[in-house]
Amino acid sequence: MCMPLWYGGDYNPEQWPEEVWAEDVALMRRAGVNLVTVGVFSWSRLEPSEGRYTFGWLDRVLGLLADGGIRVGLAVPTASPPPWFSLAHPDALTVTRDGVRLTHGSRDTYCVSAPAYREASLRITRALGERYRDHPALAMWHVHNEYGTPCHCDHAAAAFRAWLRERYGGLDALNDAWTTAFWSQHYSDWAQITPPRATQYLPNPAQALDFRRFVSDEMLAHFREQRDLLRELTPEVPVTTNYVLAGWASVDHWKWSTEVDLVAIDDYPSGPGMAAAEQTAFAADLARSWAGGRPWLLMEQATGYVLGPRKGPKEPGEIARHSMQHVARGSTGVMFFQWRASRGGAEQWHPGMVPHTGPDSRVFREVSALGEALERIPAPYDGPLVEAEAAILWDEEAWWAAQGPGLPSSEIDYLAAVQQAHRVLWRQGVPTCFAHPSHDLPAYRAVLVPSLYLISDEAARNLAAYVEGGGTLVVSFFSGITDEHTRIRLGGYPGALREILGITVEEFRPLGEPVELPEFGRATLWSEVVHLDGAEAVARYPGGGPAVTCHRLGDGTAWYVSTRLDDPGYAQVLTRAGLAGSGVPGVEVVRRRDLVFAVNHTEDERPVPVQGTDLITGKPVGGRLGPGGYVVVRP
Ligand code: GLA
Repeated sequence: MCMPLWYGGDYNPEQWPEEVWAEDVALMRRAGVNLVTVGVFSWSRLEPSEGRYTFGWLDRVLGLLADGGIRVGLAVPTASPPPWFSLAHPDALTVTRDGVRLTHGSRDTYCVSAPAYREASLRITRALGERYRDHPALAMWHVHNEYGTPCHCDHAAAAFRAWLRERYGGLDALNDAWTTAFWSQHYSDWAQITPPRATQYLPNPAQALDFRRFVSDEMLAHFREQRDLLRELTPEVPVTTNYVLAGWASVDHWKWSTEVDLVAIDDYPSGPGMAAAEQTAFAADLARSWAGGRPWLLMEQATGYVLGPRKGPKEPGEIARHSMQHVARGSTGVMFFQWRASRGGAEQWHPGMVPHTGPDSRVFREVSALGEALERIPAPYDGPLVEAEAAILWDEEAWWAAQGPGLPSSEIDYLAAVQQAHRVLWRQGVPTCFAHPSHDLPAYRAVLVPSLYLISDEAARNLAAYVEGGGTLVVSFFSGITDEHTRIRLGGYPGALREILGITVEEFRPLGEPVELPEFGRATLWSEVVHLDGAEAVARYPGGGPAVTCHRLGDGTAWYVSTRLDDPGYAQVLTRAGLAGSGVPGVEVVRRRDLVFAVNHTEDERPVPVQGTDLITGKPVGGRLGPGGYVVVRP
């Protein structure tokens, strides 16, 4: 089935006088917008007091949009409870780990375990569902916003205990899993267990990890409640929620992705330039992998950079290039936060598709040109999207564990390690996906395992089977160290992977100063005392100990990198492992089913290995791409 790509963004008409709405719809049509997300933060305008609804304004907004041919992702506004709710139910306000009860006045001031919040969420969801179930503008439901706010209150504690009972059955199993023999933490009654609240010194790492798991599951339970209600009212309308990315792994996205009808991500690269292009490709590859061959959607991006100390517009052409990176990887559309830049409120400096200057602006012209371009690209709706040659293991649980207290180096950074692996492959033009450590690993040219601190026995067996079957595995330092309860696997590191890698690590030696490795460049952060148990040394530390090793196992090969290499050094390992790509530097070529997307992220003309007619301009592609240009070709 071929449908047009979605194009649009968050539309917050409640921030504007009604006269602006008609102009909004006219401008949306001019820009080619066909979908807007409405009402994400409208709870106080929809239900100004308990059980009293004021839908008139939303009726008018949806009517205007429907008349303009613009569809709506209608939000369930539970991410921002209104002040009346918080005053009536102070016990439903977030409590931080320090025991501070937050107050309303921002957003996300809820405890997802508070009964009053759960009830109020269902009430507003039902009211919206019943009122708009047959509305012609309704295209999808957008539940909540960027789930991920933990709470440490007594409601959360009770729910955490219930979750732990389910997981462990009895206290003996929990005491064992959490190693409570350490520091006199043995629990003799469930009532003694709390979330990891502020305490004197280092917290228990297994408790902290289980709490992260619990928060993800508890939020998922909240999502499911809204989703099931909406499915009952509108069985044909997909239900989604937008994942937050960047440095914040709030939930277990693999698990969540089996529950949403549409995987949707928010992507805010810290940019600009090549770093932003790399981060965009990373986010889009993650989303595509979570979606597992199903459609997914870029639900939010921005026309400017919003993270970090300086906010500024994207460079000319970047909005379109980033958008094409997502569409190339199978996004069924391009959405922004937000349609019109706010004039007041906490995000008044967050850019919009219509900037403060108004439509007579470079940004709006670029937004409109992008809308026109997207109309010419058919959307993918079924079948595998992009054939990956390499997979990188990605596991939020391992990330959470690697954020635990008292690690041998405070500079271990799981996200940075995974991003490096992806960046190096991206620069070499190797199509890449992500996989959960326990997922089937089909015949990828290689599977990369960056700093996967926690690994289950099942995952270790999975990796062994992949290598024995002929695969190439590239494992980096600080992988395979603990079991799922963050208990260290004894007998030499990396416990779960020793046999696969043919090595035993006797000691970790975090580095202060960098060291040089012949052929593999500069090593920083980390080093190890590695003994060979069948593997051969490919590179050695200045003192002579193995630094990079290679082990034949069955029909495959397992490589180990026992330190943090810089990008050229890591690329060299991949080349030696047979994973060199043939990409043109700075030019990205992605094949999405029968279409080839080429994007030139550089300021120079570059060669592109693409022939055919550009669907956007109708012109032939002559094997070269101008500075900052992109083409979409059906070869
Ligand atoms: C997130 C949120 C939006 C908005 C943007 C601004 O992605 O979902 O509501 O706050 O960030 O950066």
